[in-house]
Formats: sequence, C-alpha cells, structure tokens
Amino acid sequence: MRVLVIGGSGFIGRYVSRRLVASGHTVVSTFNSRPPVDDGATWRQVEITDPAGLDALFALARPDVVAHLAAMADVGTAERNPEAATAVNATATQAIARLSERHGARLVFVSTEYVFDGQSGPYAEVDTPAPNTQYGRTKLQGEQAVAAIASRWAVLRTSIVYGWPAPGRRNFVPMLVERLRDGEPYHGPTNVHRSPVYVEHLVDGIVRIAEADHAGIFHVAGADWVTMYDFAVAVAEAFGLDTNLVIPDRSTARDRLGLDSRRSMAALRLHHPGLADGLAAMRSAAPAG
Ligand SMILES: NC(=O)c1ccc[n+]([C@@H]2O[C@H](COP(=O)([O-])OP(=O)(O)OC[C@H]3O[C@@H](n4cnc5c(N)ncnc54)[C@H](OP(=O)(O)O)[C@@H]3O)[C@@H](O)[C@H]2O)c1
Repeated sequence: MRVLVIGGSGFIGRYVSRRLVASGHTVVSTFNSRPPVDDGATWRQVEITDPAGLDALFALARPDVVAHLAAMADVGTAERNPEAATAVNATATQAIARLSERHGARLVFVSTEYVFDGQSGPYAEVDTPAPNTQYGRTKLQGEQAVAAIASRWAVLRTSIVYGWPAPGRRNFVPMLVERLRDGEPYHGPTNVHRSPVYVEHLVDGIVRIAEADHAGIFHVAGADWVTMYDFAVAVAEAFGLDTNLVIPDRSTARDRLGLDSRRSMAALRLHHPGLADGLAAMRSAAPAG
C-alpha cells in the first residue's frame, strides 16, 4: 500500500510512519518545521495551508491511503491563535479531503476528545460533539469536512496520548517521571478525567483502520477512564517511584473528557489495553541512557 502520512514528524506521526514502514508499506511522510527522522519513509517538507504545496505532495505520493495527523494540536496555542488554528485544523483539512478524493485515496483523520464539552464523559462514538475550545471547534470542522468531501473516510478520535517523544520534545509521562525521580511533588487534579492511551496502542488502531479499510467514526483510547491524579499515581507505580509525591489537587474545575472506545475496539478487533498495560509497555521501550 502507498501511504501518505501528513504530520509524520509529530509525536504520534513518528510512530505511525515507523510502523507503516516496518509493515512493508511504501510511505511518504511529511514534516514542516522539524527535521525528518531516517525511518525508511520518503520525507517531504510541506506547509499544509499552502494549496500548491499540498498539490505537489499528492502528485509525488500518489497515495492509496492518507493518514492526516498534522494539526495545531495544543489547546492553549489554538486559543491564542484562533485564525491560524482554523487555517491548519479546518481549512487545510478540507483541502486534504478534496485532494484525497481527487486521487481516489482513503482518508484517515486523527481527531480529539476535545470535540466534546467535558460535561459528561467518557464519550462514545454516537455522542453529539459540542466543543468549547478553539482547538475542539476547529478539529470538529476538520472532521465535518472529511465526512462531507471524502467518500472513503475514517475519523479516529483519541484522548491523552503518552509515550517517549523525540529528543528535545515533551510528553506528560516522561516529564512526570523525571519530576518524581527528582523528589518533587506533583499535584494531580482529581476533577479532570481522561482515557490515557500508550502511543503504540493508538498506532495499532490507526494502522488497522488504514490497512483494513474501516470507515466511519472511531474512538481509540485507553480502557481506563481515570482522573489525572489516578493517572499520575499509576505512572509512579509503573516506574517504581514514590506515590506519596503525587498529591490530590481538588481545586481545579470539573472536566470530564475521556472516550469510551469499547465499540470501536470490538469493531477493529483489537485488544483494549488499560493504563497498567500501556505504562508497562512504555517502560520496557525506554530509550537507552
Ligand atoms: N498528543 C495527544 O495527546 C493527542 C490527543 C488527541 C488527538 N491528537 C491529535 O493527533 C494528531 C497528532 O498530534 P501530535 O501530538 O503528534 O502533535 P504534534 O507533536 O504537535 O505534531 C503535529 C504535526 O503536525 C505538523 N504540522 C503542524 N502545523 C503544520 C502546518 N501548518 N503545515 C504542515 N504540518 C504542520 C507538525 O510538523 P512539524 O513539527 O515538523 O512542524 C507535526 O508533524 C493531531 O491531529 C492532534 O489533534 C493528539
């Protein structure tokens, strides 16, 4: 299969690109500001808000499947830059949907739990989105463009994703591990819920959808719906660190995001790992040094 990974230089994209190459697919992966990694893919620089650049990319890649992960993926950055968030997450996704259609490619769009409002999670695939952040609104606009324009599409929503990032980049779990190792406390919100998923387990879902031609809306997140306090305690336990350094913080506003992925995991015929399994897998994949 010829696969175009848009956003291959991102945290999740790196894992997707690497896995697709390892599975024998012909992969063209994109970066924008971050230099590419040597994982066996063909790397191309693209700015997805530039229509001519996207045209040239599709002409080069001639994809059977497009995995679109490029986004302004930080909630705060999107809130501070609403127009840029719309251009990247919504308008460019519309252009990618049009090009996928023109090239006869299936489109897999990676989206987020932030399409929901956080009042009553965990959310299932059938629940009605009601975003209350610019990030969530623009990602939902992206989803709607994909569904309206592409005839062969899947939207995969996920929750907080953890794993080892590229050198110099940040991710919640390694940052927390470092903090607890240094003997510093972490105040874990007891009112903030998520369904954390280990990046390789998320990639299982993305690749299954890409390879097996699944269509529609999928939720691929961890099996455990937990507070950020519970998440931090589980991290401390998995990495053999002092759980007493994780202190419950009851002061934050209620935020019940998180995804119920049971229906999607069954449809995709995937095992549905929880937090303990994900953290154990991450620990055993720790980079040397
Ligand atoms: N991480 C999570 O916990 C999480 C949770 C739910 C959903 N998601 C979704 O998963 C996807 C990937 O997230 P991530 O955490 O891997 O994000 P990330 O590390 O910030 O990576 C974003 C990717 O998009 C590319 N990109 C951003 N703006 C671009 C532009 N204007 N033109 C071209 N490329 C651009 C980046 O390229 P450069 O870095 O090379 O500039 C990078 O490859 C996103 O769609 C996000 O909404 C992530």
